[in-house]
Amino acid sequence: MKKAYKIAVVNGDGVGAEIVPAGVSVLDAVAEKYGFQLDKEAFPFGAGYYKENGKFMSDDALETLKGFDAIFFGAVGLPEIDDTLPARDYTFRVRTSFQQYINYRPVKLFPGVDSPLRYKTQEDIDFVVIRENNEGEFVQSGKILHADKPAGLAVDTSIFTRFGIERVAHYSFKLARKRNRKVTNVTKSNTLISSLAYWDQVIAEVAEEYPDVEYSKMYIDNASASFVLRPEIFDVILTTNLFGDILSDLGGAIMGSLGLGGSGNINPEKEFPSMFEPIHGSAPDIAGQNSANPIGQIWSAAIMLEHLGEMEAAQDIMDGIEHTTAQGNLTKDLGGTATTVEVADSVVEFIRAAKMATV
Ligand code: NAI
Ligand code: MG
Repeated sequence: MKKAYKIAVVNGDGVGAEIVPAGVSVLDAVAEKYGFQLDKEAFPFGAGYYKENGKFMSDDALETLKGFDAIFFGAVGLPEIDDTLPARDYTFRVRTSFQQYINYRPVKLFPGVDSPLRYKTQEDIDFVVIRENNEGEFVQSGKILHADKPAGLAVDTSIFTRFGIERVAHYSFKLARKRNRKVTNVTKSNTLISSLAYWDQVIAEVAEEYPDVEYSKMYIDNASASFVLRPEIFDVILTTNLFGDILSDLGGAIMGSLGLGGSGNINPEKEFPSMFEPIHGSAPDIAGQNSANPIGQIWSAAIMLEHLGEMEAAQDIMDGIEHTTAQGNLTKDLGGTATTVEVADSVVEFIRAAKMATV
């Protein structure tokens, strides 16, 4: 019998309406080729939904989404809607409710794409940012008091637990074993002497269980400079929610464009569905022009299939992306003239024409 996966499709806002269908066209092509079925259902959640309904998702959304194998997501947020809401009411809600405590964000230079780092090659830019995705600086446990008074005060707390640190650390060391056996903890424990000192302590304990993996720590300021000056030193970067958010955009930039970055919000135990989305936002400044780069979304499709166990199909998508960029089939952000649809079609054509991938 054909394997079947239930996929919830959430375009979200802005360019989501263009890049998610582009990603779906690639998913459909590999499903046909590798003989599995994708039962897709679309959900209109996001800032657009909020405009109509006063909320980012329906009341039963989490309960409904729980029944899916994965969520294929674009991005949420619109300029005319309060921008404190999209993360709180959609993205973070899904990530925490479904224990997607890993944010897997690979950084890799594709053939045919010029990195802004002019001396660096494909060999130099190939690492993964593992961002802790449920705790830290983004728990949104805070308050604004007396906002308009002289006594105005605002506080955000960052929360780190042994449980939360251990699980993301174990994931990172295990991932390093499948790569180049190197984990860099990006931290700032010299100044955040409680939360991040504890973060370092627990990670160092976990590191002892992986003597075959080279472990080191680096402060976030140095790490930012090193992304630009010597990206070749990195293999697996293990970092906090806030630092990982910022560093992964820098990772997108050194690849050549934010539009290239794919990612997975992963619950490794598969107790809940995981969610796959590009690293960038809804890019309202270029929405509706068929010019957004769909590669980050397409890469997210490959990460999703890898999570579901469809390794060959995932590899085929990656080969299709590399073939497309190598041919100079690039969108505007990379200095090309191809449209969103043309780039996705090129990946689909590659998949249809190529031999079965092997892994
Ligand atoms: P953004 O990532 O949407 O855009 C930043 C810049 O990168 C823009 O100039 C945009 O045109 C460009 N860009 C992004 N994706 C691109 C693509 N696929 N192809 C070509 N160029 C691309 O970040 P910004 O402008 O800070 O935020 C816009 C909205 O997105 C906000 O409402 C924000 O809250 C939301 N957002 C949502 C996220 C999510 O849903 N996970 C993540 C980040 C931002
Ligand atoms: Mg971000």
